[in-house]
Amino acid sequence: MQASRTESVAREFPVHLEGLGKEYGHFTALKSLDLAVPEGTSLGFLGPNGAGKSTTIKIMTNLIRPSRGRAVLFGIEVRQEPTRALARIGAVIETPEFYGYLSPLETLAYVGRLRGMPSSEIERRSEAVLKEVKLTEWADHRIQEFSKGMKQRLAIAQALLHEPELLILDEPTSGLDPRGMAEVRNVIKLLTREGRTIFMSSHLLGEVQEVCDDVALLNHGELLVHGSVRDLSRGADTSTFQTTFLRPPTPQDLEALALVPGVAEVKDSGDSSVDLRISGGEEGQARVLEAMVSRGLKVITFRPLGSSLEQLYLDRIQESDRL
Ligand SMILES: Nc1ncnc2c1ncn2[C@@H]1O[C@H](COP(=O)(O)OP(=O)(O)OP(=O)(O)O)[C@@H](O)[C@H]1O
Ligand SMILES: [Mg+2]
Repeated sequence: MQASRTESVAREFPVHLEGLGKEYGHFTALKSLDLAVPEGTSLGFLGPNGAGKSTTIKIMTNLIRPSRGRAVLFGIEVRQEPTRALARIGAVIETPEFYGYLSPLETLAYVGRLRGMPSSEIERRSEAVLKEVKLTEWADHRIQEFSKGMKQRLAIAQALLHEPELLILDEPTSGLDPRGMAEVRNVIKLLTREGRTIFMSSHLLGEVQEVCDDVALLNHGELLVHGSVRDLSRGADTSTFQTTFLRPPTPQDLEALALVPGVAEVKDSGDSSVDLRISGGEEGQARVLEAMVSRGLKVITFRPLGSSLEQLYLDRIQESDRL
């Protein structure tokens, strides 16, 4: 009975991180991370440099051991049964070095043999994964002709070869030019749409917004926010509005605005333009607009600066940096 419950939880949540922590000497890179990823979702594991993203991913893929807690994939604890756990995942940690004189097909055949796949299976899967990463036309070209973005897509193809149920990507677009980034993102977006389970780290909020269903925000080894990109984009309570007036507001006007309920910050940016940080969602924004009009201020434009998720991101990172 117990076993079947564990199995069904495992099936619904391919990734289960429980109280995961890591010290490098005296330095705590990861405090105590609890995170579960439901099947069929793509999670953007977001955080600035040094947040602990790669540390987490290296623990999940058994490259390093945790100081405490456990990483459980498909109900299998990675430390205890690494081979069985890793057989079900595909990972791209850093862009692997490829042999330049080999073609993608030859590379995949080599990888498939290392993984013990039968040759008919290797053929079938190679064709499928090259199609998924849009390298079909390059299947027989030498990799030395490839751009970085193409190599990264080949790395994803390699990770997908054995039909893993979970794909783990550590900063898949880092080091790529804008075109390479867009190509790799498109591939990941397609995989997301196919309903694959993806765990992908990034330090770019825009990328996570574009590619992922869910976002988990990490800073200084601590989880700050976890939720769906859509809910968090809508739900963030405080946003900054760039407001332009017909005539420059006086210092008294600015003082009066700062006192309107819901106004968290007033920043004169010159040129009759003021940045207002407003809490209380749409109600709050309406109240502030009303107050400006009733003071006789003539508003020409009132537009949000960045998405509310961006604001939430900046706020939470700033708060956790202060602690
Ligand atoms: N082998 C190591 N020895 C000592 N400190 C380490 C080691 N690896 C990572 N760190 C430190 O742990 C912290 C977290 O590193 P990690 O690589 O997990 O961050 P990250 O979120 O992947 O950052 P980035 O965006 O730069 O890749 C950093 O401060 C880093 O300097
Ligand atoms: Mg990293």
